[in-house]
Amino acid sequence: MTKIRVKALLARETAGEEVSLEGWVRTARHSKGVSFLEISDGSSFAGIQVVADATLDGYDPGIRGLRTGCSVRAKGQLVDSPGKGQRFEIHATDVELVGAVDDDYPLQKKRHTFEFLRTQGHLRTRTNTLGAVLRVRNAASQAIHEFFQERGFLWLHSPIITASDAEGAGEMFRVSTLDAAAPPRTEAGDVDFAGDFFGRETMLTVSGQLEAEIAALSHTNVYSFGPTFRAENSNTSRHLAEFWMVEPEMAFCELDGNVELAESFLKAILRGVLERCPDDMEFFNQRIDDTVLATLNHVIDAPFERITYTEAVEILLASGRDFEFSVKWGVDLQSEHERFLAEEHIGRPVVVTDYPAAIKAFYMYRNDDERTVRAMDVLVPKVGEIIGGSQREHREDILRDRMTDAGLSHDAYWWYLDLRRYGSVPHAGFGLGFERVVQFMTGMANIRDVIPFPRVPGNAEF
Ligand code: 4AD
Ligand code: MG
Repeated sequence: MTKIRVKALLARETAGEEVSLEGWVRTARHSKGVSFLEISDGSSFAGIQVVADATLDGYDPGIRGLRTGCSVRAKGQLVDSPGKGQRFEIHATDVELVGAVDDDYPLQKKRHTFEFLRTQGHLRTRTNTLGAVLRVRNAASQAIHEFFQERGFLWLHSPIITASDAEGAGEMFRVSTLDAAAPPRTEAGDVDFAGDFFGRETMLTVSGQLEAEIAALSHTNVYSFGPTFRAENSNTSRHLAEFWMVEPEMAFCELDGNVELAESFLKAILRGVLERCPDDMEFFNQRIDDTVLATLNHVIDAPFERITYTEAVEILLASGRDFEFSVKWGVDLQSEHERFLAEEHIGRPVVVTDYPAAIKAFYMYRNDDERTVRAMDVLVPKVGEIIGGSQREHREDILRDRMTDAGLSHDAYWWYLDLRRYGSVPHAGFGLGFERVVQFMTGMANIRDVIPFPRVPGNAEF
């Protein structure tokens, strides 16, 4: 008898075979002489119903004692289900308890708040919502790799431990093996990192971009996809201290090519998830946000709008809105502004380009006006910024000026500057926040609920 996953069972053409499966009891209903167990193994949104009756060995008290959370092994005949909403069920010939559940099992049948579930990180992946989130993340990852592989992009494994601040924003976590209580000191009294593991101060990366630029200048089109870390103390529903980022980088490419790639990329992820996770997406649409399916389909079908930062500021000023943060040329756009543009003014994703140089990172290509850079942010309804990118400054002299303006040491970035001396070419790329995309697709209000193990200020349990 073949052991089979629930998803494969539910996808069968016909009933009839003897099957065996393993999983956890999602719900158990015991009536007179017969028990109905819904078994889930995480492979699909739906579980499968196992019907066990009193003729089975150990029916009472064994099977009758099964309840939510127990792990079981079941064997039986796959039959057409007379019940509504399910094609098949299993008429059990054997149900074996693998692991019982203590009385204090925290996940009861009633609905739990997401706040409560965050305190149960070791169990919450068993819930409908987090289960669906995990499958959507998986499908989105698959769509991401497919998108780039089909286009000949090389997956670059950028490092997690680094000595350079890719954003120049000073929001990094230190990685150290020094004794935190009594680190070695220099004569001047500073911590002496020469004695640290790498012989220097090192950090967790905020972005794989600089390394992706290295690889793009030999392999033309590359992407990194991995965890990134930000020690910004942002306690919001859209920020994590550890999040996953996808960062394509293209040589011989300027801002327009970058914007085009971003649009087709985002659409490909949405399409991939809708195709692979129809049940999960249906669930999000029914239970979390009844606009997500319509929004995603609209985003896939409509072209993204494109405006400059200067136009965005004009739109915001003309809106007559009383924003919390007032707008004038030169200030960074806040989440409320981004959402107004994407959600209300344009009603679909909008790419904002050519931001003031002073509010963007040092590596962005300076326009001829000398006050703006070839930056691009993709803003979407509800979430705001989902992608941030730019054409890169590939001219050594201007890059040096920009670094000086940003207060960055030319010596520390010597190799980044070298790339501008040895076969430099126009190049561009962007970073897509993976969790922001999952948030956008699922309609989940808090980014902490779209990653299995959120890292946020004051919390790294699980
Ligand atoms: O705009 P950011 O900071 O851009 C970069 O890091 C560039 N080096 C990317 C590149 O050009 N290769 O971050 C990119 C995206 C943002 O648009 C946002 O979606 C996401 O990463 N992001 C976060 N997501 C969750 N939590 C945070 N704290 C985030 N910070 C940025
Ligand atoms: Mg950004």
